[in-house]
Amino acid sequence: MSRDARIRLPQPAPVTVRVPAKVNLHLGVGPRRLDGYHDLATVFQAVSLYDEVTASPADELSVEVAGADGVPADENNLAVRAARALAHTAGVEPAVHLRLSKGIPVAGGMAGGSADAAAALVACDALWGTGLERSNLSALAAALGSDVPFALHGGTALGSGRGELLSPVLGQGQYHWVFALARVGLSTTLVYEELDRQRHQGEAVAPAGPPDPVLGALRAGDPVALGRVLANDLQPAAVRLRPQLRHVLAAGQELGALGAVVSGSGPTVAFLVRSAAVSISFASALAGLGVCRTIRRASGPVAGARILPPDSR
Ligand code: C5P
Repeated sequence: MSRDARIRLPQPAPVTVRVPAKVNLHLGVGPRRLDGYHDLATVFQAVSLYDEVTASPADELSVEVAGADGVPADENNLAVRAARALAHTAGVEPAVHLRLSKGIPVAGGMAGGSADAAAALVACDALWGTGLERSNLSALAAALGSDVPFALHGGTALGSGRGELLSPVLGQGQYHWVFALARVGLSTTLVYEELDRQRHQGEAVAPAGPPDPVLGALRAGDPVALGRVLANDLQPAAVRLRPQLRHVLAAGQELGALGAVVSGSGPTVAFLVRSAAVSISFASALAGLGVCRTIRRASGPVAGARILPPDSR
């Protein structure tokens, strides 16, 4: 058969997945384990800052990144690793072009890289029609990184193990957040190492303990109570590595936030406020103080990684 006479199968349409950032309402960190990770007792909330990942048919695996600097567009990108892992498990060729459109701060403690990995799993799964169960995707997600399963899951969830074991949290209400972003990110690994050092040298503050107060506030749907009990064992380590965060946290408290906490390993700082209307005035007052690079508003909980209908873009 001549080349021109070969039958061309129709190409599947590109698939776009929208995936949210996360904030930890409670992040209790246990001692370092033998594998180098730390056992966590954490409460995640997915918030309305999003990345979009589009998977398009291609002859081989490639990636492009839009909307942010400092994201690797190569094999170090977690979305690329996710596509390869999925292809391997499903027994298909990793033939896809991934386009990451970034809205989640990079290296900000809001799990942007993990979000892209989760979105790549969902997008490639649909593009390739692998027919894998959701539980297969969750297992792949957990192998890719501690925060990847939550980015698939979304909502509000209790995380244990190294953060990858999730159970849903019964809660009510919508919570309004203002996020203060830093110019330069922080390495998660270095923040955990700094916490280990502080604990080793007896410098660490008392641990956050169990997340029960946060779970109680969520059950009651009470943002005032939630603001009082936000807790993060990584916060002193992040502040030690980035002393400017002290000023950011103090500025938010001065402006009347219900609560202020470093998000995950930082350096993003999350401020809980009473309403969407308050978030607007709070954000502009915070901008006026000039303590951070950029300010973003969001609310949560929101759904995890979801395919966008083709006509919604
Ligand atoms: O799982 P992930 O690749 O996102 O973790 C990045 C780094 O954060 C790990 O290499 C480890 O140093 C640290 N980490 C940890 N304990 C956890 C999660 C992450 O020590 N539960």
